[in-house]
Amino acid sequence: MKALSVSDILDGKKILLIIGGGIAAYKCLDLIRRLKERGVEIQAILTKGGAEFVTPLSVSSLTENKVYQDLFSLTDEAEMGHIRLSRENDLILVAPASADLMAKMATGITDNLATTTLLATNKPVMIAPTMNSQMWGNKATQHNLSVLKTRGILVIPPADGDLACGEVGTGRLAEVADMITGIEAFFLSSSDSSLLGRKITVTAGPTFEAIDPVRYIANHSSGKQGYAIANALRQMGADVTLISGPTNLKTPTGVNSINIRSAREMMNEVEKSLPSDALICVAAVADWYVKDVAKEKIKKQDGKIPTLNFAENPDILKTISNHKTKRPRLVIGFAAETHKVSEYAKNKLKNKGCDWIVANDISGDVMGGDNNQVYLIRAESMESWPKMSKDHVAQKLALEIEDYFKEFK
Ligand code: C5P
Repeated sequence: MKALSVSDILDGKKILLIIGGGIAAYKCLDLIRRLKERGVEIQAILTKGGAEFVTPLSVSSLTENKVYQDLFSLTDEAEMGHIRLSRENDLILVAPASADLMAKMATGITDNLATTTLLATNKPVMIAPTMNSQMWGNKATQHNLSVLKTRGILVIPPADGDLACGEVGTGRLAEVADMITGIEAFFLSSSDSSLLGRKITVTAGPTFEAIDPVRYIANHSSGKQGYAIANALRQMGADVTLISGPTNLKTPTGVNSINIRSAREMMNEVEKSLPSDALICVAAVADWYVKDVAKEKIKKQDGKIPTLNFAENPDILKTISNHKTKRPRLVIGFAAETHKVSEYAKNKLKNKGCDWIVANDISGDVMGGDNNQVYLIRAESMESWPKMSKDHVAQKLALEIEDYFKEFK
């Protein structure tokens, strides 16, 4: 089994870490270690709230740099003014970003070193919020979040789960691995990503196969994984066309979205999107469609059960993988299995003729849920990824795709 590849995109980067107040501040210590392992130089500002949870000594020992805490420190200002601190890094990361810090950022309040630095900076800013789920869901926080997003602040969203306050909900600080992936994705999108301008087609969601004008056959696919992949690829600079069956999801910013209902419509749109550098078939496509769709609603008649005649849908993944003239350089399929996941997935790779298969076990809450545990299977290797959010799976897959296209730059 191949080890998870660690991108070297972070090597030599400079990050200013602002540690806000919150019990999750302890995760920052591990984050610093993981970033240092990847060659990042870190300076840190420890807010008053942050210092309630981690000590300046631990932060300074791990960053191997001075820790800044006080706006009006004469020595600090003489050595490294807050303006310089705000300007001489490649990225400012606020983690954890408390509700208070987000509110101050949104309104431009500058009452301490962290907030002043954030207002003074001309560098990209990324926040990793954490708070109680009610505080997170509060309209005030959500308003501040949308204000920050419209100003281009990048967000590593909080995760669901047990919160330190004893409640359960959204508000946990993202796991360190999620934060690293988010940071890697940011540097890739803003640097020389091999995906810049690459045309990538992604299929997502379910298909609806009509029975009559009101009824259809569908499946439980939410489209979340496909949308997250489209978003991650777009963030890394790709020119993404998302061909989606009916979902409740918002089209990710900058993604060209085409809505279809049936598998045959999806096939048609995928063909129209070619030539493409890559095709990623995430959609849960129906295997059959109903022949002779009734023009009018089929009436219920006592004792009479209608018979449906099916015909086979085109297999989009297989067709395009075997396309004589327009096969994308990289074709990736998904395999949703309830058992013998890796075995079936390896067979699928051969049967479909694609390059990679992302296989997942759907015996749990995968369909519609926020987490996924997948295998990445190539002809020569198989990686098992730990259970993680669908966003994280998307970013990791996008990083793998970016890595693949480096060769063809
Ligand atoms: O054969 P199976 O449905 O298990 O294969 C799953 C993979 O094939 C997924 O990537 C799915 O998007 C793709 N597929 C397709 N067209 C079909 C059926 C599946 O593209 N008609």
